[in-house]
Amino acid sequence: MSLDTIEINKQRQNLFDREEIWLFGYGSLIYKVDFPFLEKSPASLYGWTRRFWQGSHDHRGTPDNPGRVLTLIESMDEHCTGMAYRVSHDVFDHLDHREKNGYLRYDVDLQLANNITKAGLVYIAPENNLAYLGEASEESIAQHIHQSHGPSGSNRDYVLHLAEALRTMGVDDPHVFEIERYLLEYA
Ligand code: BEZ
Repeated sequence: MSLDTIEINKQRQNLFDREEIWLFGYGSLIYKVDFPFLEKSPASLYGWTRRFWQGSHDHRGTPDNPGRVLTLIESMDEHCTGMAYRVSHDVFDHLDHREKNGYLRYDVDLQLANNITKAGLVYIAPENNLAYLGEASEESIAQHIHQSHGPSGSNRDYVLHLAEALRTMGVDDPHVFEIERYLLEYA
């Protein structure tokens, strides 16, 4: 799969036909909301879990020294809680550019906090994208993140901001919090 996913994502869904669009954020889209939205709600995506298994060439690392950022991995018995935003189709020019480093938009069902299920969209970096780094222990992920920097800032800040946002939402995520614990030890 090509690394820059902008053109692929444009063809994936016809968003103009949709009455409502709910975008699910599970990483930087929780704490860096640089797009307009109509409403938001905590939401869960069943059968998926977040992992720092994707390489970042353009935000928290560089092509020569990629950082480690989140993607979602299928995991039948788990769920991922994040933030869902009701948005207009206009925001996707910006978001497809922001998330162009291997992420594709997927159609999913989201469980909103009021228990209503909504059709949603989520950016996931699949295993076959060229920036994919894959599984590693939380300790080795933390060591990698500790040394990575890119145009959007340090990879460490990505984790610390996310951990803080999840704590504020009352979300427990052992993978994220263990990496955060290692990073705070190195500081
Ligand atoms: C998110 O926060 O939903 C997200 C994380 C990584 C890439 C794209 C989106």
